[in-house]
Amino acid sequence: MNILILGSGGRECALAWKISQSPLCSQLFIAPGNGGTKEYGTNIDLSVTDFTGIAEFSLKNNIEMIVVGPEDPLVLGIVDYFLSTPQLSGIKIIGPDKRAAMLEGSKAFAKQFMQKHGIPTATYKTFHSGQTELAKEFLQSMKPPYVIKADGLAAGKGVLICQTIEEAYDAVETILVKRIFGDAGNSLVIEEFLHGIEMSAFLLTDGNSFLMLPEAKDYKRIGNHDTGPNTGGMGTISPVPFAGAEFMEKVRQQIAEPTLRGIIEEGMHYCGFIFVGLMNVDGEPKVIEYNVRLGDPETQSVLPRIQNDLTDLLLAASNHQLHEKQIKISPETIVNIVLASNGYPGSYEKDFPITLPQAEKHRMVFHAGTKINESGFITSGGRVLTACGTGHNLETAIENAYTLAREIHFKNKYFRSDIGQDLLKYIQ
Ligand code: AMP
Ligand code: GLY
Repeated sequence: MNILILGSGGRECALAWKISQSPLCSQLFIAPGNGGTKEYGTNIDLSVTDFTGIAEFSLKNNIEMIVVGPEDPLVLGIVDYFLSTPQLSGIKIIGPDKRAAMLEGSKAFAKQFMQKHGIPTATYKTFHSGQTELAKEFLQSMKPPYVIKADGLAAGKGVLICQTIEEAYDAVETILVKRIFGDAGNSLVIEEFLHGIEMSAFLLTDGNSFLMLPEAKDYKRIGNHDTGPNTGGMGTISPVPFAGAEFMEKVRQQIAEPTLRGIIEEGMHYCGFIFVGLMNVDGEPKVIEYNVRLGDPETQSVLPRIQNDLTDLLLAASNHQLHEKQIKISPETIVNIVLASNGYPGSYEKDFPITLPQAEKHRMVFHAGTKINESGFITSGGRVLTACGTGHNLETAIENAYTLAREIHFKNKYFRSDIGQDLLKYIQ
């Protein structure tokens, strides 16, 4: 089977690594890919939102399966485009349709879905442009900190957490009146602040049944001890020590099962990944957000723990046969450290040469912002690489990941030095 992966980050590098190992995969293409994905397939210079370009390429190269990495093409309706175009409808496409993608594309839609289907989440209210005063009135009924979310996709920046009511009023104005997030701020959600510790659960669904993939914890802030601005993610670990079997069973029963029931009841077409951002509030899971794809860098910790042939699982999902499959998860711990260009998530310099050490058994490198020139790999983005360490416990995995992170060299390399440290206390 010829397979096309859409995307260019560390997530897509890990997908390419895993999918290329499958005997079911004949030729693998990645559009647009990065310096590292070339090791597993052929990079194609196409944008992930160029639907007609992707369609032409797919027909010409007998692509039988497309795995969509990022959310943009899903929210724009790539799955609907393929399903509704007769020559393309035979191509298996891994991702939800446009309506289901609103679970990520619209916070208001996601909250309404959760409320309707009895999925635990923070209490909330939605406000639209022109309702600034109503939103402010509602804030007066809430306790600080105040959580204010622009409705639409805002590149991970649309959530404002305010300590005082004045800041919260400003946040409402900033979104609904000053419109700093543009149309993503046509509406906003104000919700209860959840006190707890965050983690993420991942599902693969065929629209009728689902498999629970390994869970992960992401470190979103740029600085050690969760300080400084939010990023796409600076490191991840899997498994998550505070998410034991009992907690994950609650996630299955209270969140995963009703989410799938909701998808079925609403007649959504969903063959793909669901990423559930959760808060563990005194042992009870509550949903913070849905993403309709895998996470980056979570994928780099989730996929190495899956012992199944991922391509076989994806094929089963697209044939509605996922109920016949069982997931096999390695008990090993995976720690990923994101190596970024100093300055990220703000501005940074790029085009610096990268030196990579020899690959070894307990460590791997996934590429994100890299490309290849005549002399080798060079930096081309904010998040450059992930250093992935494996171990029989968290301590060893942390050590393996950091040893690798320190042996990788490029100018202006920056990484957090505390990934996983806060979780050692959960391990006896
Ligand atoms: P989101 O884009 O919805 O995942 O929100 C971004 C980040 O804001 C989350 O990862 C949380 O750290 C934080 N956050 C969002 N909603 C809440 C909430 N209701 N209570 C506490 N923190 C939240
Ligand atoms: N690491 C968070 C995300 O992929 O959305």
